[in-house]
Amino acid sequence: MAYYSTQVVIIGAGPAGLALAIKLDQLGVENVVLEKRAKEYVLARVRAGILEQTSVDILSSIGADTRLNEEGIPHHGVQLAFDNTLTKIGLGVNTGGKIVTAYGQTEVTKDLCDLRARSPNKTFYEAKDISLHDFDTSAPSVTFNRDGKSYHIDCQIIAGCDGYHGVSRASVPKGAINIFEKSYPFGWLGLLADVPPVSAEIIYANADRGFALCSMRSWSRSRYYIQCKPDDDVKQWSDDMFWDELRHRLPEAVADKIQTGPSIEKSIAPLRSFVAEPLRFGRLVLAGDAAHIVPPTGAKGLNLAFSDIYYASEAIAAFFDEKDEEALSHYSERALKRVWKTQRFSWYLTNLTHRFTEDTFEQRVKEAELGYVTSTPTGRQMIAENYVGMPL
Ligand code: APR
Ligand code: PHB
Repeated sequence: MAYYSTQVVIIGAGPAGLALAIKLDQLGVENVVLEKRAKEYVLARVRAGILEQTSVDILSSIGADTRLNEEGIPHHGVQLAFDNTLTKIGLGVNTGGKIVTAYGQTEVTKDLCDLRARSPNKTFYEAKDISLHDFDTSAPSVTFNRDGKSYHIDCQIIAGCDGYHGVSRASVPKGAINIFEKSYPFGWLGLLADVPPVSAEIIYANADRGFALCSMRSWSRSRYYIQCKPDDDVKQWSDDMFWDELRHRLPEAVADKIQTGPSIEKSIAPLRSFVAEPLRFGRLVLAGDAAHIVPPTGAKGLNLAFSDIYYASEAIAAFFDEKDEEALSHYSERALKRVWKTQRFSWYLTNLTHRFTEDTFEQRVKEAELGYVTSTPTGRQMIAENYVGMPL
């Protein structure tokens, strides 16, 4: 058994874990990151790609914005499509200048990973059988196996940044945690292709046949999604079937302009809303997907992970600088306020744009609401303010 000791053990090297590690490096808090997957696997995951201004600011504050500033694509508006029409909602004009930036989570993770590689603090990839111990005391520890060797790390705080299926939340006794969740009767079938995007701004489409989304990764790489059945098998969907269905769900003027090409990635993701409360259990704090999941409508998952890290790093710094144990509880309260506001918007936008049932009455009401939010200053402002993200 190899013994180490550090101030904070961070479990998970996704965007939440890496951003926290870099922030703590800068604050002079010693830390170790443990990731169960290989680095190449983590870097190959394709996920969403829209950053709120708040997230861009957080990435800048930790020096992870060089490529983001060069390659990120600022979006000054978002498009809502329904009833064969397309309506723009201006972002900056409705939010005092705040906008969003298209930059793939895959790229964000790579930038964070490169930055972390320069830290003297350790990152262990392929760390197997991670177990959390004694986080209800002031002397927690974490054990794991790697390359046939066993490790034991004593620490003062454990940060669970290991996603929805991770070990951190699962280690909390059932009676100490409250779970709030909702699943949706559909999934998203996503396709990535090296073709120019159909629109310079993201399109969220409500159609009789179901939801569709047009997004991008660059001016030559597009990301499209369509609502599908939750139990659909991705192998049932040929590229041609996907493109046909997408065109059927968009206003004709948009559908006519779509450039198609072979998929470079195609996958189905379920939609769910999920929140764990609280986010602190003694010396364990949860952040990112380990703590909450939002449906992808509105692209809030990655952004919420970064706001958690903003609050968590402040709390951890106060814990070490001022010996303020209560700061960890304040992390939970502060982060959860923003989590619930963002949950509300993600749930709302999912309801507004998706087809839940065959009920035509419900569909007409959604079209009327889309008419309202796109045609009134109040409606446009509500969508824009939420889309660019709530203030920290
Ligand atoms: N031990 C160590 N690492 C683990 C374990 C475990 N038992 N279980 C999971 N992990 C790792 C995963 O392999 C992954 O690399 O934790 C990491 C969690 O990363 P993400 O799932 O990306 O979650 P997070 O960092 O919170 O990022 C927020 O934003 O767009 C959303 O869901 C999307 O990933 C995204 C999220
Ligand atoms: C994406 O680009 O993958 C994307 C964009 C907007 C969303 C979800 C995903 O709401």
